[in-house]
This record gives sequence, structure tokens and C-alpha cells, in this order.
Amino acid sequence: MSKILVTGGLGFIGSHTVVELQNAGFKVIIIDNLSNATENVLNGITAITSITPEFENLDLKNKEQTKTFFKKHQDIVGVIHFAAYKAVGESVKSPLTYYENNVNSLVYVLQELNKKAVSHFIFSSSCTVYGQADSMPITELAPTKPAESPYGNTKKIGEAIIEDLTKSNANFKAIALRYFNPIGAHQSSKIGELPIGVPLNLVPYITQTAAGKREQLSVFGDNYPTPDGTCIRDYIHVVDLAKAHVIALQRLLENKNDTNFEIFNLGTGKGSSVLEVIQSFERVSNQKLNYKIVDRRDGDVVEAYANTTKANTVLGWKAKLSLDDAMLSAWKWEQTL
Ligand code: UFG
Repeated sequence: MSKILVTGGLGFIGSHTVVELQNAGFKVIIIDNLSNATENVLNGITAITSITPEFENLDLKNKEQTKTFFKKHQDIVGVIHFAAYKAVGESVKSPLTYYENNVNSLVYVLQELNKKAVSHFIFSSSCTVYGQADSMPITELAPTKPAESPYGNTKKIGEAIIEDLTKSNANFKAIALRYFNPIGAHQSSKIGELPIGVPLNLVPYITQTAAGKREQLSVFGDNYPTPDGTCIRDYIHVVDLAKAHVIALQRLLENKNDTNFEIFNLGTGKGSSVLEVIQSFERVSNQKLNYKIVDRRDGDVVEAYANTTKANTVLGWKAKLSLDDAMLSAWKWEQTL
């Protein structure tokens, strides 16, 4: 069985990806420093797949420990790298913390992979690299824009570092996956998103409001140039997203990649406004949501949704679950918390 390292494997997207990897027959080892996850997530993964993945509580910012880890686990054939901080606002307040964590840990992992005869690497990137794109839907050929935040910049820099390494080492092959807005939870309700403190993202804020943990959702602006005035995003079910990681990894392991650095957008291809997301929630949960319109939030782009042709045709992956599926799974998960 091929052994895959999943860094940040106890986080939101990481844990769902571990489930899909195990379902596909891969042996998984997780590294997580528990900075934004708990060890309990392992129980959820085990409950779903009947397999407990190996787990090491390790901070990839620690270069020596990272080196020792790779020495000990020479049988790793592929790495899916999720481990990173991801709060946009926090990154503006503490840029160095973000650069140190997201860039250093990436470099230390790559330094170890660079020593191997062959290595396969999947990078967790973001549609944030496109900024406000000039036209919709966004293809992978759309120019990247100056990052709006240090967090976004770490994704841009990360992609550049990885691409440079593929140019210098022909045995290092990588795919960057640019996610649109991942939401939802596993259908079993055993794993899902676990925001610490007040959620910054729309969907956990909606479910926490409905659960009575928050009083009211603030909708940030209804005077954008969109049909209902609220911002448009491409909300993708985390299980669909997780499956794309397995397919991307298999593409590299089976030498099916066209070049040694490839980029794919991962979205549904459909844009939904904030009000449409609220309506979806109200439909699947059979209840009204308490919300009010407030001022715009700084840094929000008007719209971002993916052209998914490349992922559909080249990768052979397509999102199958709907916004309603995602909202229902998020709501069921919230009710277990
Ligand atoms: N929104 C609200 N109220 C809230 C939270 C969000 O109205 O309480 C709105 C936002 O204004 C935006 C939409 O809901 O229009 C989605 O906001 P999220 O915060 O859920 O997601 P973003 O699109 O802002 O952020 C996502 C990822 C980031 C990434 C960014 C790139 O979470 O990691 O896309 O654009 F950087």
C-alpha cells in the first residue's frame, strides 16, 4: 500500500481528504501541530473508515524535527500539504507569523522531498490568487493579482516556490489546487469544520446563528453590482474537494501529468450570492435565519466563481454535490457540536 503524508490532516479539508484517501486504499500518515484542530478528529476519521491513520503531533516550522520525521518515514510516496494558517484578517495583523508558518514549513517539507529519488506533491492553494478577476468564470489562465492579504500572498509565494523546484528537479512533480469556497461536512456528521471562536466565514456563521450560538448573521453589503446586491462565490462541498485531491495524487503517481507543475481550479462552476446561500440554508433546515444587512467588509471581491473545464476534462473530476447538499451537511454537523 502506498503511504501518503497529509500535513494538516486533522483540519477541515485535511480530515475529509484523509477519509477519501483511506477509502481509495492509501495508507495515510498525518502531521498536525493541533494549532487549529483537535486530536478527536482522529476518532471521526476512524468511525467513518474503520481505519485509524498514523498521526504525529509535529510542527513543520521545526526544521530539525521535520528532517527527523522524513528520515524515519522513508516509505512516503506522496505528500498533500494542507498545514497552514488561513485567517485573512489575522494575517493582516500578524504578517510575520503567517510568512513564518506558511512559507517556512513549506520550504522545510520541500527540502526533504528534494532529497528523494522521486516525489509527488499536492499543494493547497486558493482562488484568492486571482483577486478580483477581470472576467467570470475564472480559468487557470487568468492573471494572478497582487495579494490582498499576507495570507493570500503565502499561497502565491507557495505556488512560486513549488514551481521553481519543479524546474530545478525533474523528479519532483507537483499540482497546485486552487480552491474556491469549501463548505459543508461529511455526510456521516463525524467530521466537519471546527472554527475556533467567532467564525469568520459565511457558512459556519449561518449554522451557529441557527443553533443559537450567535445572535444574528451580518450580511456584508447588498449594494454590490450583482443581481441581488450581495457578493457571489463558488461554494464547493468539502467532500467533492477532498475527492479531487485523491484524483490529483493518482495523476502524479501514475505519471499522467502533462507537466511537472500543474494548476487546477476546484469549484462547482456556479456562483451563488450570500442571499442565495441563506435561502438554501432556510430550505434544507426548514427555518428562517435571523440576519441583517450591514456595511461591506473590507477586502471582499464582488464575485469569484470557477471555470472548471480543466479540472473536468484534464483531471477527470467534477463536483457532484449541490449547495443544498452542502448546507444540509453543515447544519447536521453543527447540531452534533
Ligand atoms: N459574509 C457575510 N457575513 C459573514 C461572513 C461572510 O456576509 O458573517 C460574506 C462575505 O462578505 C462574502 C461571502 O460571505 O461575500 C463569503 O465570505 P467567506 O468569509 O465565507 O469567504 P471568502 O470568499 O471571503 O473567503 C474565502 C476563503 C479565504 C480566501 C478567500 C479568497 O475563506 O481563505 O476566499 O477570496 F482567502
